[in-house]
Amino acid sequence: MADERSPDPPSEPTSKINSSVPHSARIWNYWMGGKDNYPVDREAGDAGAAVYPGIVTSAKQSRQFLIRVVRFLAGEAGIRQFLDIGTGLPTMQNTHEVAQQVAPESRIVYVDNDPLVLAHARALLVNTTPEGVTSYVDADFHDPDLIIAEARNVLNFTQPVAVMFMGVLGHVADVGEMQSIVARVMAAVPSGSYLAMYDGTDTNKAFVELCENYAATGGVPYIPRSIEQIGRCFEGLEVVDPGLVLITQWRLDTVEVGKIEPTDQYGAVARKP
Ligand SMILES: C[S@@+](CC[C@H](N)C(=O)[O-])C[C@H]1O[C@@H](n2cnc3c(N)ncnc32)[C@H](O)[C@@H]1O
Repeated sequence: MADERSPDPPSEPTSKINSSVPHSARIWNYWMGGKDNYPVDREAGDAGAAVYPGIVTSAKQSRQFLIRVVRFLAGEAGIRQFLDIGTGLPTMQNTHEVAQQVAPESRIVYVDNDPLVLAHARALLVNTTPEGVTSYVDADFHDPDLIIAEARNVLNFTQPVAVMFMGVLGHVADVGEMQSIVARVMAAVPSGSYLAMYDGTDTNKAFVELCENYAATGGVPYIPRSIEQIGRCFEGLEVVDPGLVLITQWRLDTVEVGKIEPTDQYGAVARKP
């Protein structure tokens, strides 16, 4: 699952890359089987997996969910523009690769605020089709207006856009603020656009403990939410079948995902009416 195209993390981290505090993008990369992480991330990742072994499966299954979602959006839903906020480090089958396999002309804007993700953006942008466009914005999702302004350089906001918040909104401290970030981005896209998201939930005590321990390391906390709280992000939108469900239960028939193990992440896709 490691990305062979992606270079090792810089041995001398640049001034912005803090290799003394674990970062979510790098731990996620570690759990997914990638190599773009530092000892501090592997230590935090191992500590998390010791408390909640299911997290490794969850990370890997989240990518399978993303692949099924993007295939649905580019295929059945006919979407050609993607705004993937909280992209993470390049790994197997990134959003642009999945979308452009279905529709080569797809245009993708990735957004993340982690300096290591920025450093690897070049690796993330390879494999773009000649017809398509893939671009990267270094921004914090607490500033949706900046993200939209930057995305306008690549995406046409009079045409539908798939807005993706995949495993990132747990990093927003407050539920109301989380809803407001999603609502502000969705307000900028036209009717026929989609919201796709998943997040970790508070349905498993071990996962909640993992998140509490992670917060104590000094990394930006990840707050597991109730299913109802995650559902609030979809208010005013038409949630497509099968609704807000465990990510391992979302449209499984569209792709072979192998042996499914339990996860505590819920996700959904919804259309803006
Ligand atoms: C758990 S990873 C998920 C990565 C990817 N979306 C996936 O599903 O594999 C969370 C990502 O959110 C990013 N992130 C966290 N806080 C952010 C913020 N305030 N603005 C933008 N990105 C952020 C992290 O850098 C990391 O890449």
